Amino acid sequence: MEKTAGISGVTMDKLVSLCKRRGFVFQSSEIYGGLSSAWDYGPLGVELKKRIQNFWWKEMTQLNDNIVGIDAAIMMHPKVWEASGHVENFTDPLVDCKKCRQRFRADQIPEENLIKHICPECGGELTEPRQFNLMFKTNIGPVENDASVVYLRPETAQGIYVNFRNVLQTSRVKIPFGIAQVGKAFRNEITTKNFIFRTCEFEQMEMQYFIHPSEDEKWFEYWKEKRFGYYKKLGIREEKLRFHQHGPGELAHYAKKAFDIEYEFPFGWKELEGVHNRTDYDLKRHIEYSGKDLSYLDDQSRERYVPYIIETSAGLTRTVLVVLSDAYDEEDVEGEKRVVMRFHPKLAPVTAAVFPLVKKDGLSEIAHNIEEDLREHFTTFYDQGGAIGRRYRRQDEIGTPFCITVDYQTKEDKTVTLRFRDSMEQIRVPVGEIPARIGKEIADYRRKE
Ligand code: GAP
Repeated sequence: MEKTAGISGVTMDKLVSLCKRRGFVFQSSEIYGGLSSAWDYGPLGVELKKRIQNFWWKEMTQLNDNIVGIDAAIMMHPKVWEASGHVENFTDPLVDCKKCRQRFRADQIPEENLIKHICPECGGELTEPRQFNLMFKTNIGPVENDASVVYLRPETAQGIYVNFRNVLQTSRVKIPFGIAQVGKAFRNEITTKNFIFRTCEFEQMEMQYFIHPSEDEKWFEYWKEKRFGYYKKLGIREEKLRFHQHGPGELAHYAKKAFDIEYEFPFGWKELEGVHNRTDYDLKRHIEYSGKDLSYLDDQSRERYVPYIIETSAGLTRTVLVVLSDAYDEEDVEGEKRVVMRFHPKLAPVTAAVFPLVKKDGLSEIAHNIEEDLREHFTTFYDQGGAIGRRYRRQDEIGTPFCITVDYQTKEDKTVTLRFRDSMEQIRVPVGEIPARIGKEIADYRRKE
């Protein structure tokens, strides 16, 4: 079969359209015209997101005997956000256009517009920048007053810090150790374009690593490299990843040092994960605001100290966009365009699709049985509609790495065709060997263009 090498060809328009067409991501409340910057994950999207989350969770907790997990509530005591510095510092500078009434982040519009106070959209007059807090505020209970104010958490990290003592007392961890968490976070973002890249409601996968203050450089370097390597394990192309160190003007209020891991999205290089040295800032602030002892006693040296924290903070929903962008590929096969999502097989929403070559002569019964047996091992999909070539293309477009076709030879010798998504190569495999063969292919997987 003649084909050109993968030519990617990814654009946001193509991605958004594929996501909608195939059930990865839908616009929120679409039947009402949609809610801007909110997105729903469809049947394939939810599988992809779950697999990414599981991959991260395994990487953090199962593969490290000194990292444990928690799942804290989204709503926390309002004092948490005073202590963390978010009430005071978690702001963006905003300017409004007096003419067209649009609102912009002052740090994101061209400097000459700011100097001249001219709107980049309509040329109208801009207001002076004002600080706008990104936290969503609501009230808990029946009375709306200052005493009932709660915030939706803008980062999951604080749920870990306020549980530091609980985890220490209950799980026998010793420094250095980590606490991992995956969950929703909320920010009232003003600029929310680019699909699921920046949204007001999103998910984070954060790990806070508690260390002795004298070892912060060592652990920072360790986690920075480890997290970069993780994206390669996830199947992301290395040339699409890079580090960006935060300059003094970019550092968050809690960070002494920060590196972003950036990915080259179709709209340019942007942050995917932050690795931060948060020092003892957060624990010390919680000690001050709660009056509780959050220090650590080393039972060997008898030294008591407030640990430093190295944080790895990845966006789960943003990683979904990375995985989708990185997987998208188009190639010419015998004069026709083939769209193929080259997901790592561990992430693909469907692992194996099973087809009878034709419905008749008992082939669909055999294919059904094979598909049912495989369910125990993999996520499967059964399809008997349309020409076989079209069925393969449908699976390519959702990134199914393996297709199994039952034909007349199956009835004679109990073998099937196993077809590989990336190379389109086909081999014969005995029915009983399918799970082991697919398992081996997944374990040995290396991305090839
Ligand atoms: N606890 C530290 C923290 O929250 P951050 O750099 O503000 O650090 C970490 O966020 C990650 O969370 C980002 O690298 C990004 O992947 C994700 N993230 C942040 N804001 C987001 C948003 N509005 N929409 C989607 N993902 C977001």
